[in-house]
Amino acid sequence: MEFTAFSRQVIDQLESDITAYLQACKLPSPLHEASLYAMTNGGKRVRPLLIAATFATVKTESSLTHPSHQLSNDVRRAMMAVECLHGYSLVHDDLPCMDDDALRRGRPTTHIAYGEAAAMLAGDVLQTLAFEALTHTYFGENSEFATPLSATFAPRARRMVMGQMLDLNGEHQQLSQTELEAIHRDKTGALIEASVLMGAICANATDSERQALNSFAEQIGLAFQVQDDILDVTADTKQLGKPAGSDEKLDKSTYVKLLGVEAAKDYAQSLFDTAKNTIVAEFGMENYLVDLADWLWEREK
Ligand code: IPE
Ligand code: IPE
Ligand code: MG
Ligand code: MG
Ligand code: MG
Repeated sequence: MEFTAFSRQVIDQLESDITAYLQACKLPSPLHEASLYAMTNGGKRVRPLLIAATFATVKTESSLTHPSHQLSNDVRRAMMAVECLHGYSLVHDDLPCMDDDALRRGRPTTHIAYGEAAAMLAGDVLQTLAFEALTHTYFGENSEFATPLSATFAPRARRMVMGQMLDLNGEHQQLSQTELEAIHRDKTGALIEASVLMGAICANATDSERQALNSFAEQIGLAFQVQDDILDVTADTKQLGKPAGSDEKLDKSTYVKLLGVEAAKDYAQSLFDTAKNTIVAEFGMENYLVDLADWLWEREK
């Protein structure tokens, strides 16, 4: 199956699960509406795709007869967990007390659409729903992977929050590259690492496969936020679906501020090249992680 068909299938599965899972959780109004709004307004679904692509890559490698496109219930749980956590992080990231942004994915941010209290609570409940997904009966029988998945997921969810604190502390500062890298690895890299590692758990990856996947995820995770910094200055608001120039407005510490646009692009490219080489060395050229890395490198929003 082509990567585009694979990603369509993964996103369709995730999106029908989002609607049904939120319905099953019976949140009161307007918490339900605000949470659904935050989860169903056209994100790229990068983290769930990383989980599914990792799962398919490992499965295809270890068992040629496994239909690699068929997502297990464990993969669906993991995809929901990481996307709920990501959704929550964005709702809070946009609040007036944080980045104070009014546009996300081409629509008003959750606090603009539903008010600050509902947005704050939507973030809170999405964080809870993220962890609940790992054991919720909506996804069927309790998973044999619930413990390893949560042991992988929880510390990285915490690192996202720690990174967000460091990001706020970094406003109006001149940070070194080492300091900035630590922020990016936490605020954005950690959930990307969690995604790949959760895919590896669901696929019963070997130690050697996990090592390769871990190093791939670390490189891609950092590269993804470096790109986000670049797009903030090179793309326009319409293309991004979120306010261009937000980082400059807040005098954030970013790779563009530190290195300039061209050097930041070169850095992102070198991270992507290293990441891809790691996957090719372990799994060969023909797999969805290579395709996903190429798609991420070329992204325009
Ligand atoms: C935006 O994440 C915030 C970062 C961590 C860089 P995405 O670029 O994955 O956002 P959506 O989900 O596609 O909107
Ligand atoms: C956000 O980084 C990282 C999160 C953990 C949400 P940004 O603040 O740069 O993300 P955008 O640009 O608003 O999507
Ligand atoms: Mg932010
Ligand atoms: Mg922001
Ligand atoms: Mg940004």
